[in-house]
Amino acid sequence: MNLRRLIYLSAKPSTELCQYFEERDWDVKAVRSSKDARKAAEDAGAAGGLLDLAAGLPSHEIEALETGLSIPNVGWVAIVSPGQLGDATLRRLVRDYCSDYVTVPFIPERVGRAVGHAHGMVALSGPPREDFIHSFAEGEMIGACESMLAMFRSIKKVASTDAPVFIAGESGTGKELTAAAIHRRSSRRNFPFVPINCGAISRDLVQSELFGYERGAFTGATQRRIGRVEAAGGGTLFLDEIGDLPIDSQASLLRFLQERKIERLGGHESIDVDVRIISATHVDLEPAIAEGRFRQDLYHRLCVLRIVEPPLRERGNDIELLALHLLSHFRKEAGRRLHGFSPDAMDAMLRYTWPGNVRELGNRVRRAVVMTEGRLITAKDLELDHVAGQAPVLLNSARETAERAAIERALLRHRGRYGEAARDLGISRVTLYRLMDAYQMHEPDTAGYKPRKRRHPPGSVP
Ligand SMILES: Nc1ncnc2c1ncn2[C@@H]1O[C@H](COP(=O)(O)OP(=O)(O)O)[C@@H](O)[C@H]1O
Ligand SMILES: [Mg+2]
Repeated sequence: MNLRRLIYLSAKPSTELCQYFEERDWDVKAVRSSKDARKAAEDAGAAGGLLDLAAGLPSHEIEALETGLSIPNVGWVAIVSPGQLGDATLRRLVRDYCSDYVTVPFIPERVGRAVGHAHGMVALSGPPREDFIHSFAEGEMIGACESMLAMFRSIKKVASTDAPVFIAGESGTGKELTAAAIHRRSSRRNFPFVPINCGAISRDLVQSELFGYERGAFTGATQRRIGRVEAAGGGTLFLDEIGDLPIDSQASLLRFLQERKIERLGGHESIDVDVRIISATHVDLEPAIAEGRFRQDLYHRLCVLRIVEPPLRERGNDIELLALHLLSHFRKEAGRRLHGFSPDAMDAMLRYTWPGNVRELGNRVRRAVVMTEGRLITAKDLELDHVAGQAPVLLNSARETAERAAIERALLRHRGRYGEAARDLGISRVTLYRLMDAYQMHEPDTAGYKPRKRRHPPGSVP
């Protein structure tokens, strides 16, 4: 049993609260002074802290509180009586050192939740605690944000069926890990999981790689070779970068999906193969289908169930969780004693847009572990110093920047045709005009931008 520690600083500890926490597997240590609180927190490890200001503390204790509360491994929550925060000293202590406060009278659940959260945040920012991080995982995938939790639920759902799954998402978002997680949760888990990177096999070899060949099928085929499809028998076949599969091989794959039988190259018998198909791509297949590079009928066969992998920049604080997880992994590999990330590194990681997603994060952390000279990895070690320390972005200006960029891209894509750009953006023409007026945007032309002519008087509907 892993007990969480609670340091309870109070002149008059409540037995009811102590009991409440102990029943929920907290190891409660009641102390009466900051000095004792520091002593109780000394043996490192994250702890929750409960500071009871409502019960009153002697004035010399209030003065000593600042040093007591600054212990880095304790996440404090204050208990205050109504009006007590009118006192400037107490208000400052609570604001600077506590993550939350609860006013008396309270229900223990409210205190429990606040302290649980404070403890969790401290555990996160301390040296990486693998057991804590792994409480947010699906197979090898780490994630605690809403979109990842939704994806973990999808993984469980699709694992219980045998239908083909199609995974869409940018490079490095974890499509292969997702495929493996589905396999591991499915009834096929004791059979092979066979990944094939359709983009990495040369055009000439796709057929023989997928379906195998008989001895003598071609010059150099000195013995029979089993293809990847057959090798996955009973298990799961993961067709990665399916968009890169040459068109003639798409026909044979489709035939296999319809008949569930293969023929080895140069062979005559057809062999039944029972596999579950998961496919993935980082490119949008719609244009490939429109241009005849990807068969629509194959796409429909593959894309029965669809999972979309969220890009890293949309995973909020998961970036922190993943960075700590990767750090603890590479730290072991490099045999280095590193404590974590500096605040500017965390800040830069949250601001950066991560075009290479989790793979890029892994590469940057791995490099930083080798290059850093201190105990903490800085933004510079991550080569992200150019994104650190910028002024905080207000939501309104972030929204304007994003909207402007989307409108510019849509107009360029459609060579300034408003109707089509608006349709692409999922807004009406009127809304598009209104936004462009509001942002004083200009109409694109081939040489650059020129001021947009107003086509209707302000306030009117065209
Ligand atoms: N949620 C995650 N948790 C931990 N590691 C991840 C996660 N997503 C991706 N990774 C790691 O990032 C790298 C890229 O993942 P991968 O599945 O190959 O991405 P994709 O197939 O989408 O390009 C791998 O090293 C993988 O282990
Ligand atoms: Mg991949």
